[in-house]
Amino acid sequence: MNMLWGGRFSESTDALMRAFNDSIAFDIRLWDADITGSEAYARALEKAGVLTPAETETLLDGLRRVRAEFADGTFTIAAGDEDIHTAVERRLKELVGAVAGKLHTARSRNDQVATDTRLWLRGEISSLREHLRTLITTIANAAETHLDVLMPGYTHLQQAQPVRFSHWLLGYGWKFARDLARLDAVARETNVLPLGSGALSGNPLSIDRQFLADALRFAEISANSMDAVADRDYLADFLHWATLTQTHLSSLAEDLIIFSSTEYGFTEISDAYSTGSSLMPQKKNPDSLELIRGKTGRIFGNYSGFLATLKGLPSTYDKDMQEDKEPLFDTVDTLAMTLPIATGVIRTLKVNRERMYGAMSSHLLATELADYLVEKGLPFREAHEVVGKVVQLSIESNQPLWSIPLLALKTISPLFDRDVHDWLDFENAVERRRSIGGTAKAAVQAQIASLRQRVG
Ligand code: ARG
Repeated sequence: MNMLWGGRFSESTDALMRAFNDSIAFDIRLWDADITGSEAYARALEKAGVLTPAETETLLDGLRRVRAEFADGTFTIAAGDEDIHTAVERRLKELVGAVAGKLHTARSRNDQVATDTRLWLRGEISSLREHLRTLITTIANAAETHLDVLMPGYTHLQQAQPVRFSHWLLGYGWKFARDLARLDAVARETNVLPLGSGALSGNPLSIDRQFLADALRFAEISANSMDAVADRDYLADFLHWATLTQTHLSSLAEDLIIFSSTEYGFTEISDAYSTGSSLMPQKKNPDSLELIRGKTGRIFGNYSGFLATLKGLPSTYDKDMQEDKEPLFDTVDTLAMTLPIATGVIRTLKVNRERMYGAMSSHLLATELADYLVEKGLPFREAHEVVGKVVQLSIESNQPLWSIPLLALKTISPLFDRDVHDWLDFENAVERRRSIGGTAKAAVQAQIASLRQRVG
């Protein structure tokens, strides 16, 4: 069996223990990063005088062949390949012979796995970043398309004040814009080189770590080898990013599930993102959105489970840290689906302006009525009280605010006059919210422009 550490052992590992210890089943995904890290390390060993130029070429050529095997799917895992690092080194030795054994000089799997994971995540972050940018752009485009559509705005899921549909949608655009900024911060935290830290105490060959950082395009070099082999903070940061982003996706999904229900009918999820029922022929269910909402649970679990793994670890590397990969991979895989699915739902969403307009209660304008009285000189608190009575009358007499005769209004407050009817208009109410961040058309257009600027 080709183990990296068999020398001091006289008995073989228990079979169940071996299965328990192996990580190849999942860390095989790091193959490309592992080979990239080894290529840079081989060159650094040459620079340090450990490898001759000929040996370096032999190793690089061998690593190229290992890479090709992974790329074309012909790489086969052998018994004893406990992790990706072992597998690559074992195959390299088969291909180039004993010189393969020099590659690991003064390198530990501790600084190796730390480097591989950072390299891998760096690539994944750039593709997640693109998914997030596309989502934000899609939101901005849809907001522009439906700029003239008004809807009831809700607090506590109770009708509150009229807003533009675009304003509601852009509310999510800004959450995702913050997620984008957070992801960029995680990318910076990730972009630190641990290679050259050895097992824990550093590299005795005066290996040129700046050379390694340049070769692997890391912006920074870790400052403390004991910290570097154990630092998983950037993974916690990433999982936190994922947790918030997925929370935002889940809220968006929840809103759209409600808006697309039979009772609301404000929106309709396209067939492409819905599924049917095996029993009820009429059903079209928003499974895309329900799964987005549902997968939030596993993302939370990945994050909280990972933090629990880290808690109380003594300094430097402990095998507990091997448990970082599955939650990381699962989180990346999940967000790599939820982001584009959410984008697809929004891109193809049908918006039913009549249903929104039809659902708008005149009581959405109660605040306008209070503002009207304020303009006539009444302190807001008193105006609030007066309009409360008007609303009561509207409920009791079963008529919308705009149908209450002026005479009846005047009995509640003499300040009411003919011009009050201009205030009882959804469009006018929306257009009064002109200041930055408001729901007036010009303010929403400004929002769209600045959101687009954020994504570049
Ligand atoms: N498979 C291990 C991991 O993922 C690699 C590092 C092993 N290091 C060690 N000292 N056993 O963490």
